[in-house]
Amino acid sequence: MKLNPVLERLTPYRAGPPLATVQKRYNLAQIARLSANESADGPFPEVVDALKEALDGLNRYPDGWCADLRETLAAQLDIPESCLVFGNGSCELLMLLGEAFLGPDRHSVFPLPSFVMYKAIAAANSAPFTAVAQPELRYDTDALIAALREETTLLTICNPNNPTGGYLEPRQLRSLLDRVSEHTVVILDEAYGEFVTAAADQDTAPWVADYPNLVVLRSFSKIYGLAGLRIGYGIACPEIIDALDKLRQPFNVGTLPQVAALESLRHPARMEERRVHVDRERRRMSAELDRIGVGVLSSQANFLLVNVEGLAVPGEEAAQALLERGVMIRSGYAMGCPGWIRVTIGKVNENEHFLAALAELRGFGG
Ligand SMILES: Cc1ncc(COP(=O)(O)O)c(C=O)c1O
Repeated sequence: MKLNPVLERLTPYRAGPPLATVQKRYNLAQIARLSANESADGPFPEVVDALKEALDGLNRYPDGWCADLRETLAAQLDIPESCLVFGNGSCELLMLLGEAFLGPDRHSVFPLPSFVMYKAIAAANSAPFTAVAQPELRYDTDALIAALREETTLLTICNPNNPTGGYLEPRQLRSLLDRVSEHTVVILDEAYGEFVTAAADQDTAPWVADYPNLVVLRSFSKIYGLAGLRIGYGIACPEIIDALDKLRQPFNVGTLPQVAALESLRHPARMEERRVHVDRERRRMSAELDRIGVGVLSSQANFLLVNVEGLAVPGEEAAQALLERGVMIRSGYAMGCPGWIRVTIGKVNENEHFLAALAELRGFGG
């Protein structure tokens, strides 16, 4: 057997043990799952109804063009249908962009810390990369620009950034785009874009008309609560969309994800409710962490990056100590930000559970 040598540089993604196993091991009545930035709530009720109706047609392949979804989304975003591509999660589109633009002679740039897939995708395509450290975990666009080389074909910006929650305003983004040469494709990963409440925020979809090297990626996994179905989309000029269409499987997005995404788009008020909830909880949790003397970064996403130095346990053990108290979060040690943990904003009772467990580790009693 002769495996592709690139595999030596890759590590498989291993999810943690099943929930039931963890519950049994630590004798927990319940677990607050605040580790994967999922929505605390499932699909909208209308989406569940639409999914039930669609079950009958599953003997057929899905619509490989996502025509109904494409038409509705293009109208909502006010962009041509030819500027859209759909994927099995936005992660599939990230991978296809890697295939389309990276290779051994092509360089990739992304911030550190940021979504771990950016590095994995560069490695999978044998591409050299620069992970640009962000001083004090805040976006430094000058440092990103300084890392660009003649052979840089991809620059990825995650906005808001996972795991810091940091946000670049439209003005800062445009100024960054204006400084990137047109042979470098800029991926603007907006998996958490719907959680932004900053007053200056703008829809970036129409920007692809101004920047032919821009690809905006969005996901139905987060605010819409469809992580289990796998669907996301990309917005770009037709030349980039055509490249991704050549690389993708003919039927890369299943029927149920298409139905669920389309129905989700019909209920903007429900999405707004979720945004308001996350914003309220984001402020409340940050204030409470502040009160108990725990550092937290300002976030525009559905998660917070929380400092775990100075707890009753060493920072590396904070994730385990919280798990034993029934709270699943993500340790920053594997994400390029040692000394921090990332906690997803969940339901009020889950957030309370997290705050109580952390206060206990901070020495504020049980
Ligand atoms: C920044 C970022 N981009 C993309 C994704 C992938 O999302 P999807 O579920 O749409 O594949 C995630 C998932 O956590 C993410 O954090």
